[in-house]
Amino acid sequence: MLFIFCFSRGKMRPTVPLLLLALLAAARPTPAQVKTSLLDLSRILPSLSRPANHSRIFYAVMFDAGSTGTRIHVYTFIHSDAEKLPVLDNEMFHSVKPGLSAYVDSPEMAGQTVRVLLKVARKTVPRLDWKRTPLVLRATAGLRLLPAEKAQALLEQVQHVFHESPFLVPDNSVSIMNGTSEGNFRPPSVPTTSSFIPCPIRWCPPTGVLAWISVNFLTGEYCHLRPQTKKTVGILDLGGGSTQITFLPKLRKTIESAPVDDYVARFEIFNSTLELYTHSYLGNGLMMGRLATLGARGGGGAGPDANSTDLPPAAGSETKIFNSSCLPSKFRDEWSFGGQTYQVSGNPDGDAGYKHCYQEILKVVDGAIHQPYKLEDGSFFYAFSYYFDRAVDAGLIDDVQGGILQVRDFKKRAKEVCNKMAKDPTTSPFLCLDMTYITCLLKDGFGFKESTTLQLTKKVKNVEASWALGATLDHFHNLKIH
Ligand SMILES: *[C@@H]1O[C@H](CO)[C@@H](O)[C@H](O)[C@H]1NC(C)=O
Ligand SMILES: *[C@@H]1O[C@H](CO)[C@@H](O)[C@H](O)[C@H]1NC(C)=O
Ligand SMILES: *[C@@H]1O[C@H](CO)[C@@H](O)[C@H](O)[C@H]1NC(C)=O
Ligand SMILES: *[C@@H]1O[C@H](CO)[C@@H](O)[C@H](O)[C@H]1NC(C)=O
Ligand SMILES: *[C@@H]1O[C@H](CO)[C@@H](O)[C@H](O)[C@H]1NC(C)=O
Repeated sequence: MLFIFCFSRGKMRPTVPLLLLALLAAARPTPAQVKTSLLDLSRILPSLSRPANHSRIFYAVMFDAGSTGTRIHVYTFIHSDAEKLPVLDNEMFHSVKPGLSAYVDSPEMAGQTVRVLLKVARKTVPRLDWKRTPLVLRATAGLRLLPAEKAQALLEQVQHVFHESPFLVPDNSVSIMNGTSEGNFRPPSVPTTSSFIPCPIRWCPPTGVLAWISVNFLTGEYCHLRPQTKKTVGILDLGGGSTQITFLPKLRKTIESAPVDDYVARFEIFNSTLELYTHSYLGNGLMMGRLATLGARGGGGAGPDANSTDLPPAAGSETKIFNSSCLPSKFRDEWSFGGQTYQVSGNPDGDAGYKHCYQEILKVVDGAIHQPYKLEDGSFFYAFSYYFDRAVDAGLIDDVQGGILQVRDFKKRAKEVCNKMAKDPTTSPFLCLDMTYITCLLKDGFGFKESTTLQLTKKVKNVEASWALGATLDHFHNLKIH
């Protein structure tokens, strides 16, 4: 399949003949076919792309080293105008599990993971372009949590594998993104006493902003990343530990009325500065939301907030049972999160169902989130991660196609799930809690109306909606995110 994004009719149209592109498109495998058909592709590509102005097609390789796996993205761009953003022609990706952090005591194995993934790059990028195709690796949560010297050893091994490859290794090619500041901005000179490794050369931009750039690069008939752009999309992300919001406000007042300056990110594109409202709420992710609703966060016991996170859970008579009316009243089980195992149960008084549950969750969400001024003016929101997964679990959307939902759809379904959970043992016992948390977070947290529509998706135009594309664009165009 072929995708041409980000050009306006006439002016930015790529000059590579469309017939040629159509031929290329026919020859190109979809990501699922990567393994079987790439070999043939590498023979076809160089000969076909060479007759066109060679400097106009280029490639970039971005590794996303996450906590559960490592993913390679090989992007093919067409550049028609040095002043403009390139056009994304194709994305090839492949992933392996587990993540690099699983090899904490055998860095050579981590290097081997990267070496294996590099085969995708060798097969996608024509041999003649290897020397000028950059390799970049950005690590997130998994490596960030390791002791600094262990993470450093892993990264050095990756760097070594990069250098022995035939590709270009730019400065700052391997680094860890500072996740605790995913919405908070600090200049690179801020000294760090923590166990993270700072970006060696240049301060790493936060993933929320990079994901916004990725999605807006891909959405719309034409690129949304233009000055005076009117129709950008905002993004909502819900992880286990934190939740993020990023959008381009229409009104100055939304930026001016943000709590502190680190709710605002600026970056430069096409000679103008875009100002985003962006924030990451640590502790308001879905799993942390469960923990807080169950009363197991802070004070309540040996949770991630206590000092004893490395100790095994308290045993025997000391085991506390955490209860919530968001769980079926007769439910009793163990639940593990963040290296801890908790005893959890329904409400012992028998209170269960949506109304009780909502009241419990409101106590957790109320006041935790700043409600942006005129949130819904001008931005349509895409929602990712657990927003998507739980909408699938609740039967609201298809797990491949995704879908469009109103906030009230989450609420309606939360009510149904919660009020029927005693009678329906087939649904996950946590679905009522999770759906109610999402409803409450959207309405009472961020302040969305029930009529607000959200696009639930994993991909935009068949390209993974992740920070990786934004990070690649930033690498080439130094967007000066700050
Ligand atoms: C190819 O493109 C580059 C940059 O866009 C330009 O400088 C060069 O003159 C072009 N060459 C040909 C043969 O068109
Ligand atoms: C990450 O961000 C936090 C909060 O902004 C800051 O205190 C810390 O120094 C940063 N760490 C690195 C390695 O940049
Ligand atoms: C970009 O800004 C510079 C400096 O302000 C100016 O000289 C230049 O003409 C601008 N370019 C465009 C394409 O607007
Ligand atoms: C149920 O949870 C509430 C609130 O967290 C707590 O006050 C109460 O003691 C718990 N009940 C039992 C029987 O554990
Ligand atoms: C947890 O750690 C903090 C700072 O390290 C300390 O002040 C506090 O007393 C500790 N709490 C417990 C319960 O050990």
